Amino acid sequence: MGLKEKIESIRSEMNAFKVASAEELETFRIRFLGSKNVIKDLYREMKEVPKEMRKDFGQLINALKNESEEAFTSFKNQVGSDQSGGASEKIDLSRPGEEFPLGSRHPLSLVRNEIIEIFSRIGFNVSEGPEIEDDWHNFSALNFPPEHPARDMQDTFFIEKGENEMALRTHTSSVQVRVMENSQPPIRTISPGRVYRNEAISARAHCFFHQVEGLYIDKDVSFADLKQTLQYFAQELFGKKAKIRLRPSYFPFTEPSAEVDVSCTLCNGKGCNVCKYTGWLEILGCGMVDPAVLKSSGIDPHTYSGFAFGMGIERIAQLKYRVGDLRLYSENDIRFLDQFKSAY
Ligand code: DAH
Repeated sequence: MGLKEKIESIRSEMNAFKVASAEELETFRIRFLGSKNVIKDLYREMKEVPKEMRKDFGQLINALKNESEEAFTSFKNQVGSDQSGGASEKIDLSRPGEEFPLGSRHPLSLVRNEIIEIFSRIGFNVSEGPEIEDDWHNFSALNFPPEHPARDMQDTFFIEKGENEMALRTHTSSVQVRVMENSQPPIRTISPGRVYRNEAISARAHCFFHQVEGLYIDKDVSFADLKQTLQYFAQELFGKKAKIRLRPSYFPFTEPSAEVDVSCTLCNGKGCNVCKYTGWLEILGCGMVDPAVLKSSGIDPHTYSGFAFGMGIERIAQLKYRVGDLRLYSENDIRFLDQFKSAY
């Protein structure tokens, strides 16, 4: 084959070359531009060409060399613009998406939301009040007289002593007073929120925790209404088999007052170590709103009566999820929080 034919044969090989991947680009480079490329061989063969024709052949080979460089640049751009490295590795739109980690609701939020949901089905709305509270709303209006020992039932964080006494609320019962001051019956409301007590932190006590307060005021509200409402609540929360029992108790703001137990959710009342072999678990305090409290809050006790109840959200969460240590709720340990993913 003469030199001219060789040039043409390399040119047609080059034109037929298909580059669609980084590997093919490299093959092209080695063949036409590498240190031992085929065009170099042509220059070597020039020595055998008669002198007067060398210039023409030189131009032909130079042109081929330029073409190979241009082809390489355009192949390179083509392959480089395809991010996945070549046409054979194009994005596969049918591939399932990558999973990204989902957060989870805090167990206390789960329980609070469930309680709100249960009471909203029987017409209760949600009300909230401030965490920094004055003496009137936290104590006096709730029938705790000044210097009365009942105030010691709840160890209080005081923010300001004296005339403008302010404290972190010790219970959400303060919201009852605010709701009654601002609206007239019928009132059906629940008030979830954070409360504070001056207690050393341990597995069984904390300086802050959460409560839900309930209040129902209307004409002719009776203790039977209270009992029925709580029975409904316990069965919605713990299942239809749940029973409640009321034990006489004392709170300054209710008369009569009671503490409510639910039949042990673990052993169904048979007795186990969670219920300390009593078959019952204490879940809340309640009672008929004391007429003195209605009066303090601007509601006529001769026309209206009502009931109230208050429960700890941590306590309910403990019974639902078997969380024994109160500190876990505020430590933000991801290993603890992750367990509530399915509950979401
Ligand atoms: N405020 C009480 C506490 O923190 C709980 C409570 C008991 C609320 C009886 C009530 C109630 O509304 O009627 O221990």
